[in-house]
Amino acid sequence: MFSPTAGRNSGPISMILSDILPSSASVLEVGSGTGEHAVAACTARPDINWQTSDPDQKSRQSQDAWRSEHPHQINPSLDLDMTLGSWWANLGEFDAVFSANMIHIAPWEAALGLVKGASEILHSKGLVILYGPFLEGEKTAPSNLKFDETLKSRNPKWGVRTLDSVKHIFAEMGFNLQARFKMPAENQILVFSRN
Ligand SMILES: C[S@@+](CC[C@H](N)C(=O)[O-])C[C@H]1O[C@@H](n2cnc3c(N)ncnc32)[C@H](O)[C@@H]1O
Repeated sequence: MFSPTAGRNSGPISMILSDILPSSASVLEVGSGTGEHAVAACTARPDINWQTSDPDQKSRQSQDAWRSEHPHQINPSLDLDMTLGSWWANLGEFDAVFSANMIHIAPWEAALGLVKGASEILHSKGLVILYGPFLEGEKTAPSNLKFDETLKSRNPKWGVRTLDSVKHIFAEMGFNLQARFKMPAENQILVFSRN
């Protein structure tokens, strides 16, 4: 599958990932969608290992199809749903957890589950990297306010999350916002790590 959005943003995202991921990093991607971010990141960084995942079967099939571009770097996709308890069981340790455009298009429990699981599977210097839009009070871009309304009309449990609420749930698990990158179309990359 091809996503027009991923087609546009996977280049800029992979440039940032390429700069911040440690050498030979193992990365778990949550809500991988079509799987195009995995390909872009592994093209930019041939030393990394990438685990795609998604609760949606068609998405996992797409991720496994894209995997043929880098079969030695990208592992077969896993069925991981952030709202299910203990999704992290038996996964082993990772250097980074990456998720793009997932926490606003899933219930808030998915964000909570992502943070909880990340705290279980990341080693002490591990990174959580989120890409997407965030609400920031008066600084919020009008396009993101409109997007928030559209999401909520599709599902009241969805919605663009506030930067403060995201920082708060990470802080509760011992993670701080270490870096923030402004991205095209009023999106951001947030990088969290433990103190
Ligand atoms: C808007 S798509 C983004 C896909 C991809 N990350 C991208 O940026 O192109 C949202 C993805 O999150 C996944 N998703 C939704 N709820 C989820 C959950 N509870 N746990 C993990 N992934 C979820 C969907 O199946 C979908 O693939």
